Amino acid sequence: MEKDKVRKAVIPVAGFGTRLFPATKVVKKELFPIIDRDGRAKPVIVAIIEEAISAGIAEVGIVVQPDDKEIFADLLKNPPKKELFDKLSPQNKEYSRYLEDLGSKVTILLQEEQLGYGHAVFCAKDWVQDEPFLLMLGDHIYASDIEKSCVGQVLDVYKQVNQSVVGLSTMPAKIIHKAGCVTGFWQEINSILSVTQLYEKPTIEYAQQNLRVKGMSENDFLGIFGLYLLTPKIFDFLAEHIKQNLRERGEFQLTSCLEILRQEEGITGYIVKGNCFDTGLPDVYRQTMIDFRNF
Ligand code: UTP
Repeated sequence: MEKDKVRKAVIPVAGFGTRLFPATKVVKKELFPIIDRDGRAKPVIVAIIEEAISAGIAEVGIVVQPDDKEIFADLLKNPPKKELFDKLSPQNKEYSRYLEDLGSKVTILLQEEQLGYGHAVFCAKDWVQDEPFLLMLGDHIYASDIEKSCVGQVLDVYKQVNQSVVGLSTMPAKIIHKAGCVTGFWQEINSILSVTQLYEKPTIEYAQQNLRVKGMSENDFLGIFGLYLLTPKIFDFLAEHIKQNLRERGEFQLTSCLEILRQEEGITGYIVKGNCFDTGLPDVYRQTMIDFRNF
């Protein structure tokens, strides 16, 4: 095996999706449909897995609630009922076979209790083992501005810098209280950043005092894009937080452990050349449905 080749991706999909209630009472938000650029209606999770696999990832671990195991297995592991398959168009028959092939690369992992995003990532520890891995949010889809996909770009930067990478985008001050933010100094202007601090959901005041980045306008900050390339060391810090019951807003979060990872090993930030579409809020999901198809 090629040293440091990134083979695995983790996608946590075990949250409750409270912001999309009551739809999420019956449909996991990661299974909501989006219309892809090829005009096909597909569950969000399928678009995310495709992005990972098409960038060269060999295996994907999705972290699910125990009660949802069956529905994800139905989508990714089981062929459609014969009666349905027989009625599909030739193109959809072909896609169905491709979906089975995609599903064969997926391992379903469990998060027994919903203790937060960081905790869900920790649930993938034994599956990831001692390898660097790609981490993707279960409710974000990506569209690149350039030929190389967003995940492909992050993998390339990892090869170049050989330390953990967080995908970033420029965010206006008014939305940073909802995002993980970073600051640092440029290695390559407006592209590659040596991160000197990661901070979850800062107030505008905190961001203005601590998270300004040279050359950027006063009202813009760098927000985390939902794509991460992490060394397995992150699991040590997540384990420590869980052991010591260090929660934020009642949950085990990832960003504070990323900050410790940064102090120990360094983290590079990369401004992804592309767009990240959120599907986790009603109006944002609606807009994503429109924009993703046309991007
Ligand atoms: P979110 O922060 O969007 O949380 O999780 P959520 O519970 O899914 O949704 P809201 O905030 O209640 O509306 C980010 C990602 O982490 C997963 C989610 O499924 C989503 O893909 N997650 C979150 C878990 O896997 N387990 C958790 O305990 C929490």
